[in-house]
Amino acid sequence: MPPRLSARRVCLFIAFGTVVSVLVTLHHRWPSTKSKISPPVDLESEVVVASTPPAFPDGDSFATEQPQKSEKAWFFSGGTVFPTHSKGLPRLFPDQTDGDRITDQLMYVPEDYQGFDTQEKLILAYNGLGTWGQKPGPASFHGCPVSRCSLTDDRSRAVDADAILYKDHFIHPGVARPSKQVWMMYFLECPYHTQSIKFPDVINWTATYRRDSDLVAPYERWTYYDPQMKQKTQTRDYSANKTKKVAWFVSNCGARNGRLAYARELSKHISVDIYGSCGPLKCPRSDKKCFELLDRDYKFYLAFENSNCRDYITEKFYVNGLGQNVLPIVMGARPEDYQRSAPEGSYIHVDEFAGPAELAAYLNRLDKDNALYNSYFKWKGTGEFINTYFWCRLCAMLHAPRVHRHYEDVNDWWRGPGVCTSKSWRNADFA
Ligand SMILES: *[C@@H]1O[C@H](CO)[C@@H](O)[C@H](O)[C@H]1NC(C)=O
Ligand SMILES: *[C@@H]1O[C@H](CO)[C@@H](O)[C@H](O)[C@H]1NC(C)=O
Repeated sequence: MPPRLSARRVCLFIAFGTVVSVLVTLHHRWPSTKSKISPPVDLESEVVVASTPPAFPDGDSFATEQPQKSEKAWFFSGGTVFPTHSKGLPRLFPDQTDGDRITDQLMYVPEDYQGFDTQEKLILAYNGLGTWGQKPGPASFHGCPVSRCSLTDDRSRAVDADAILYKDHFIHPGVARPSKQVWMMYFLECPYHTQSIKFPDVINWTATYRRDSDLVAPYERWTYYDPQMKQKTQTRDYSANKTKKVAWFVSNCGARNGRLAYARELSKHISVDIYGSCGPLKCPRSDKKCFELLDRDYKFYLAFENSNCRDYITEKFYVNGLGQNVLPIVMGARPEDYQRSAPEGSYIHVDEFAGPAELAAYLNRLDKDNALYNSYFKWKGTGEFINTYFWCRLCAMLHAPRVHRHYEDVNDWWRGPGVCTSKSWRNADFA
């Protein structure tokens, strides 16, 4: 038996070496940039995760490092925990669960997925790849748990592609359509600034910031390290040294939701410094000093979106607001949308108050009460804004058991009654 045994050893050695080199490559692709705190990961305990390589076919597995409870899932910075094959019904589509399913999709590997031995899925980017900043071929999927996919911008592949992806603009391919082919519509902006589709019943999947899209593509995605720990004692006093009250950086004065009028009314009751073309103060958007100014001097920031639409929460909130040591006052999506997407207790929604005067009264109270002001920063350090790896999720979903689905009227879903309002959500009459 010795020759057989040694051949088996060689195989195991090669398999182990491959796993190690893959892990090393992944580590190099996404080096950790943030600090090395490794709180436990518990993705609402819906996925079984493991960091050890899958067992070998004869059930013999290599005794490598044990998965540690403190290791983070792969999509966190410095995360190392990769999914193995998912068992049971995956929660990938909006009708399967209420959530945005982003972490489910990131941790999904179909039961029959065999890596390189699996047939590659071809994705045609109908509006070209330049607008996506991607190259043709499989490069966009390198390092994904499910990576057997390839991108093309060659429209002659419309007959055999597994998916056709549209970015902001739909063009009918005009060729016979295989029934397994997925047509997917991506919208970056909100309904006011996106096209109405001429063929409303042909779209199978959507990818937008909306939480009920098939692939939710938010501007940022806050993720707790441990969903049981959403607040943390802070050592810092966030009110320290701040001499000014409310700041706002804004360039578009004519927004549909009346945000400028609201800010002007607010300024009658509390000091509001308006920077940009709608106010007297200047601070160029590109200048890092503007953020330093915000961080150092101001207590509050008006993270007002230009439109009040469901789930429409942009960098104005995440970067200008939460990215600084300032308390964001938000207007844009519905209060319940912020509640689901933002770190707990990290902001104030204008609709919590009857109007600008009541809001100002509360801000003046916060200005005097440092403990209350600081209570809005307890989320810091409990999670991070993760990379949501759009291409990885798309690839994983294309390899999932095929479910046929499509929007009967994608325009109605995207811009139908109740999606956006020109008033505040408090006064919206369809609610
Ligand atoms: C406040 O200013 C003092 C003195 O300049 C400085 O030592 C301290 O770090 C500042 N505190 C904060 C939170 O920035
Ligand atoms: C895509 O939508 C069309 C209807 O527009 C439908 O006939 C087809 O079965 C759907 N395909 C998939 C894969 O969902």
